[in-house]
Amino acid sequence: MLSALASVPRYPCAQLPTPVQRLAELGRALGIPELWIKRDDLSGTLYGGNKIRKLSFLLGQALEEKRHRIVTAGAIGSHHSLATTLYGRRAGLEVEAALFPQPPTDHVKANLAANLGAGAHPIPLRSPIEVPFVLALRSRRSGAMLIPGGGSSPRGAIGYVEAALELAEQVRTGELPEPDLAIVPLGTGGTAAGLELGLRLAGLRTRLLAVRVIDRIIGNATTVVRLAHRIQKEMHRFDPALPWVRVGRCDVEHRQFGGRYGEATPAAIDAAHQARALEGIELETTYTAKALAAIVCRAREGSLPNGPILFWNTFSSVRPPGYDPTGAAIRHLLPPQWKHIFDDENMWDD
Ligand SMILES: Cc1ncc(COP(=O)(O)O)c(C=O)c1O
Repeated sequence: MLSALASVPRYPCAQLPTPVQRLAELGRALGIPELWIKRDDLSGTLYGGNKIRKLSFLLGQALEEKRHRIVTAGAIGSHHSLATTLYGRRAGLEVEAALFPQPPTDHVKANLAANLGAGAHPIPLRSPIEVPFVLALRSRRSGAMLIPGGGSSPRGAIGYVEAALELAEQVRTGELPEPDLAIVPLGTGGTAAGLELGLRLAGLRTRLLAVRVIDRIIGNATTVVRLAHRIQKEMHRFDPALPWVRVGRCDVEHRQFGGRYGEATPAAIDAAHQARALEGIELETTYTAKALAAIVCRAREGSLPNGPILFWNTFSSVRPPGYDPTGAAIRHLLPPQWKHIFDDENMWDD
């Protein structure tokens, strides 16, 4: 492990390394000779997915700074906010969650119920535009540590530098062949930026494809490359001898977005169905099914490299406590603005 990583404070919430496995049936169906999966869905025992690696370092920072409170933001069904509440509470911290609307699928409702049930103090927002102001205000007022949406601060994204080094070790020990291409969803970009940097630091020739699932103004190659640079600077604070590597580009797939965040596109629904039917893997349609849909699409058009392809599963397969789309147990905790979300005759306009 890089000494830069060894000296960054961390909270032990991640269960690492996550396994790698071959997806033989899905690979056969798609005509991909070697299709592999990185099981970050198993990154934590309470809750998994890509947020846990970031939270190791973010909660480590909060505890080191002797904070009692953290404040973060996301959509109402945010995996990041939910993971932050679950592990933040476990670390003994108060957790504030500033949440804005998104289409209320059952999965979104169940995540919101789990988040409130786990003890998040909700701050209802009308739109994502309010996020920066509200976070700045809350952290100034209450002394809470501010964790940006998706946990994608340079400190949090170090978790994905470590993930790339972990992959390199699995390649070295023969658990999987060196992938030609690794595919991840692109939201706030911490996952892609950490991996881009980590793959270069590890000396792997694996290329990354980041599948955009969010508006282009947030998720794009420039934001990923910039964040990779900021992560590198952050790591240098802990190890000035760390070699500088250049992350000059990030390949972004834009075709799976579907026009709005959270839109369950037909391609994503179809990819999720294939993953379940052929491999027993549960994906969701905001992030991971769109990443898999990009693999399906590229396999069909013949634009994938011939060598091993790695699908990085960033969605928890561990069900969090209180995951219930009816919200029965948390109705009394709902702020008035959110009461309608769990109504059957909910008329949603966003
Ligand atoms: C399941 C899942 N996959 C991928 C992502 C995207 O990761 P990032 O925000 O680091 O780009 C998220 C972000 O919320 C997520 O919840």
